[in-house]
Amino acid sequence: MANNDLMEKVTSLCKRRGFIFPGSDIYGGLANSFDYGPLGHLLKQNIKKAWWKFFVQEREDMVPFDSAIIMNPKVWEASGHLQNFSDELVECKKCHHRFRADHLLEAEALKPEYDKAKVKTIADVVCPDCGGNLTEPKSFNLMFKTFLGTNEDTSTTAYLRPETAGGMFVNFKNVLDVTHRRLPFGIAQIGKCFRNEITPGNFIFRTREFEIGEFEYFINPKDWEKVFELWLGEIKRWWQDVMQINMDNLVWHEIPDGERAHYSKRTMDIEYKYPFGVKELHGIAYRTDFDMTRHQEVSGKDLQYTDPHTNEKYLPHVIEPTFGIDRMLLVMLLEAYHEEEAPTSKEGETEARVVMKFPKHLAPIQVAILPLSKKEELSVPSKQLAFELRKIFSVDYDETQSIGKRYRRQDEIGTPYCVTMDFASLEDKKVTVRDRDTMLQERVSIEKLKNYLQNKFEV
Ligand code: GAP
Repeated sequence: MANNDLMEKVTSLCKRRGFIFPGSDIYGGLANSFDYGPLGHLLKQNIKKAWWKFFVQEREDMVPFDSAIIMNPKVWEASGHLQNFSDELVECKKCHHRFRADHLLEAEALKPEYDKAKVKTIADVVCPDCGGNLTEPKSFNLMFKTFLGTNEDTSTTAYLRPETAGGMFVNFKNVLDVTHRRLPFGIAQIGKCFRNEITPGNFIFRTREFEIGEFEYFINPKDWEKVFELWLGEIKRWWQDVMQINMDNLVWHEIPDGERAHYSKRTMDIEYKYPFGVKELHGIAYRTDFDMTRHQEVSGKDLQYTDPHTNEKYLPHVIEPTFGIDRMLLVMLLEAYHEEEAPTSKEGETEARVVMKFPKHLAPIQVAILPLSKKEELSVPSKQLAFELRKIFSVDYDETQSIGKRYRRQDEIGTPYCVTMDFASLEDKKVTVRDRDTMLQERVSIEKLKNYLQNKFEV
């Protein structure tokens, strides 16, 4: 399938089936904002739950956290966001479209006729929309400003957080005092972040409001190389075993000296081969003691850690793996989308089916109950079965249209198991369970169905 086709097909399926809608749709939308519909919400919840289980719940060295979105502006002064969290903005003098200078240079370098000798800086590039000349680049801060209370002046200016990290750095001492942890340990959270992006786009890839799952892993600096490698291994395990993606679609981009943030000694961007190019999916950085030093300086509070064995006193260093939740969801949609031929009820005939092959534990609907007839004889026990299964699984009940159409509908939203009750079920107390991927059908006793399905969903 052509790459643009895939993006278009996934976007259209998302709207048609209620994964993701354009934001504020009935008012004509709001550019690059999106609302997660019923299935999108469930898929996102499942990704977040899986992330939390893998990186937090199953580990003894991780502490959960949930900090405020609006924090004291000094947090952002200390972290450098107020001064430096900017992109270079250029504007076309003719059509007045605005662009990120680095994105234009990146796009230029991808053109077949690209000539490094001719394109040295943004001054050598013209507007990609109308060919007009561009203004000089100027710095544009991405922090979303707001005001606290009734006065709108500099004394009440506050910011929506651009990342969750700040809340965890400034609470390091609070967490240490109540949990009595020893290094190394991490503080983790998932939450909404806001950046006034110049050029959002590519569906949910870059938006102004998005979610991050990240953790700050506090270490003794002498261990940084070993701990970095350990987390890289865990990240690989996450993509391979939990998200179950095609690992060939990931690109492990070691950021070279000179291109990293000034405080980082090692950064790895984990990139993905999206239909619109190889771009960042998430990252991991060794941030040294930059953040702790800055927060100690600006707050005037002692944030040092004392090793209980050696009495050594030092500012912890930090390794930070960070994951965009919406980007992970986009990747799961792209990986899941399949078009294939499926047999119809007529011997030897096939028809095209779209099937979202999500890893089964992440599928928004896990089980669909599809009685073969709407008659009460079947609908009453089928609804009873759905009621029982809802206590454990996410369940859809559907008795409209032919069974073939209902299978196609469930395939398209990625439901791993369809359970059909027919008139024989009333006699033998068994139902037919159909597997989304193999399309094989199996008769399973109603009494054993819960256990049967539970085994299937175990990761
Ligand atoms: N604390 C480190 C940090 O925030 P980042 O690379 O700026 O690092 C983390 O952001 C992740 O958040 C990115 O790797 C990406 O997955 C996601 N992300 C960043 N900006 C985004 C945006 N505008 N829309 C959607 N996701 C975004």
